[in-house]
Amino acid sequence: MSDKRIIVAIDGPGGAGKSTLAKRVAKRLGFLYINTGAMYRAVALWALRLNVDMSDMHRLEQLAKEADIELDPETGDIRLNGEDVTQAIRDGKVSAAASKVSAVAGVRRALLRIQRGMAQETSVVMEGRDIGSVVFPKAQVKIYLDAHPEERARRRALEHQEQGDAVHRDDVAAELNRRDQQDRARAEAPLMQAPDAQLVDTTGLSIDEVEEVILSLVRSRISNGKEAIR
Ligand code: DC
Repeated sequence: MSDKRIIVAIDGPGGAGKSTLAKRVAKRLGFLYINTGAMYRAVALWALRLNVDMSDMHRLEQLAKEADIELDPETGDIRLNGEDVTQAIRDGKVSAAASKVSAVAGVRRALLRIQRGMAQETSVVMEGRDIGSVVFPKAQVKIYLDAHPEERARRRALEHQEQGDAVHRDDVAAELNRRDQQDRARAEAPLMQAPDAQLVDTTGLSIDEVEEVILSLVRSRISNGKEAIR
């Protein structure tokens, strides 16, 4: 592990703004952007397509081990076994399946290996649920991004609308709530704020404002790594 390598871990529930912010912050810092949720979604998509029973833990683990997952570190686009699945993994059915798939210990082990490998030689901004707690417990910067549930549901509903999906905000809120409960309650690497993570509440803040908050946290946490921060 290179001494200059910097890991910025961003965790939090759905709709808190992780993907948007992680991508922007990575660009500003010149780091790679890694969306780990997209990886769980890709495995879930494959399992759905193959009609795998979501309680078949061995088969799910096998898929996670065999999946050829490529992430574009600039755009966040994702390829599964050579196919661009960036849009396909955003489907509501995939979201629900991803939450189930991500509770399987064997799946997490397989993806953990890939996630750690991606940051072996380079600085990254990695976002997910367990980056600061499990994937990189020694990350130099740990941020827990959160927002009021109503605001998170509003943002998610807006995302769906922008993609042309007609959704009702109440349905989005219920689905988000169900997934958050599942992600928080599971035994393996549950969603949690690591004790040394900085809570950033994005309720009522613009994307630009949150970006500045995160960048200033990164700068203040990395005392003598100026050479790595552009
Ligand atoms: O961030 P997202 O909504 O795309 O994540 C999809 C699912 O994957 C979500 O239910 C939580 C799960 N996940 C996880 O368990 N661990 C991660 N590091 C990232 C996502």
